[in-house]
Amino acid sequence: MKSPRARTIYNCTECGGQSPKWQGQCPHCGAWNTLIEAVAVPAAARFASVSGKPSTVRQLGAIEARSVPRFPTGIEEFDRVLGGGLVPGGVILLGGDPGIGKSTLLLQAMAAIGAAKKALYVTGEESVDQIALRAQRLALINAPISLLAEVALESIVASIDAEAPEVVVVDSIQTIYTAALTSAPGSVTQVRECAAQLTRLAKERGTVVIFVGHVTKDGAIAGPRVLEHIVDTVLYFEGDTHSSFRLVRAIKNRFGAANELGVFAMTERGLKGVANPSALFLSQHADAVPGSAIVATLEGSRPLLVEIQALVDPVQGGVPRRLSVGLDPQRLALLLAVLHRHGGVETGGYDVFVNAVGGVRIAEPAADLAILLAVHSSLTGRPLPAKTLVFGEVGLAGEIRPVQRGQERIREAAKLGFRQFLIPSLNKPKQAIDGAKIITVARVDEAVAFLRG
Ligand code: TYD
Ligand code: MG
Repeated sequence: MKSPRARTIYNCTECGGQSPKWQGQCPHCGAWNTLIEAVAVPAAARFASVSGKPSTVRQLGAIEARSVPRFPTGIEEFDRVLGGGLVPGGVILLGGDPGIGKSTLLLQAMAAIGAAKKALYVTGEESVDQIALRAQRLALINAPISLLAEVALESIVASIDAEAPEVVVVDSIQTIYTAALTSAPGSVTQVRECAAQLTRLAKERGTVVIFVGHVTKDGAIAGPRVLEHIVDTVLYFEGDTHSSFRLVRAIKNRFGAANELGVFAMTERGLKGVANPSALFLSQHADAVPGSAIVATLEGSRPLLVEIQALVDPVQGGVPRRLSVGLDPQRLALLLAVLHRHGGVETGGYDVFVNAVGGVRIAEPAADLAILLAVHSSLTGRPLPAKTLVFGEVGLAGEIRPVQRGQERIREAAKLGFRQFLIPSLNKPKQAIDGAKIITVARVDEAVAFLRG
């Protein structure tokens, strides 16, 4: 049933113009295929402020700054990525590939929260029996969580009004639809409208709302990316589904630091936090092997040691291939050009593959020097000395730039038994670090020379 005050219109994504019916071409700007379905809500309803009262202009200095009240979820690694816990009225998007552990994490979190707060788990994907089975596996069958198997937005809103929960999980936002729109559940229009309405409800009631969103590799279903600007916090699950480690990363957080990282291991009994993850992403080689370099990246507040592997092999067929897993492919192309121009190392006749071990994604340029040395090491067949840590950003002019919080990275690696550190000159510690041999490099050719020995 359509609600009497909502009617369907079509908005142009190019010029924002409206049309009462769908057409291939926008009647206003003439662009093709830009009209998408939307709900026309009478202006008075759409623009009403959240509280229903008109806002007044106030002076910044006259506003009493209160610290955000937070409550912990009880799952330490989850609280860490959230910036300390949940904030009333906060809206969170938890995205990730299907099967990575989103429902598991949220069921565990809701069970822990449920002890002190009223928690509602709305499932649009699984039946309540399936959730109960999962809860049994997690030994949470008696946890105080209310379940609702529902996909109609209007019914979900009615249940939230009736139950007045303090935390609501919507698993997943792609399965929810509003009857006010005719497009299929999961379409951009539906996802956006349902999320917008639930967000408004969260702000009005001070309820925490957590949306689950699936990311599909081919982007066939409207991804949760369209929601990123609506919500307060965006978390993404990362990790290789074949290994047991899972990372939850804060991409955006209005209530805490972005880029914070929570580390979990998927076990027989659900997700377990890994409190000290720095050594997780190292593969254990008995001897030093060519094509491997270890970097200390700073993802969030903790340094993480990650092995970068490279394989450089003569071209098979015409065009040399450059492939990277967990590292930016553009950055790899750039580093190979710098290696050629400033290090005198030619890779034009070779396929180059690089990989960050363990399914981690590294976006930090601090990994540049390690990538470069792993490539050179694989090409020459000469390994880096064992127990050597490498970090540094590489510039287009062949300079090695310092990275932030270098000391911290060195100390963490030293704790794990690293003895030799190849780092940018400008990161040289002011005081000697016990048992650490520091080698500083300022230019790419010096780094290449280090490997030549
Ligand atoms: P799930 O949370 O259903 O993934 P998502 O909601 O992101 O699609 O988790 C799926 C995987 O986790 C599934 O392959 C089974 C595995 N799993 C465990 O290994 N241990 C457990 O205790 C649970 C509940 C799931
Ligand atoms: Mg799920």
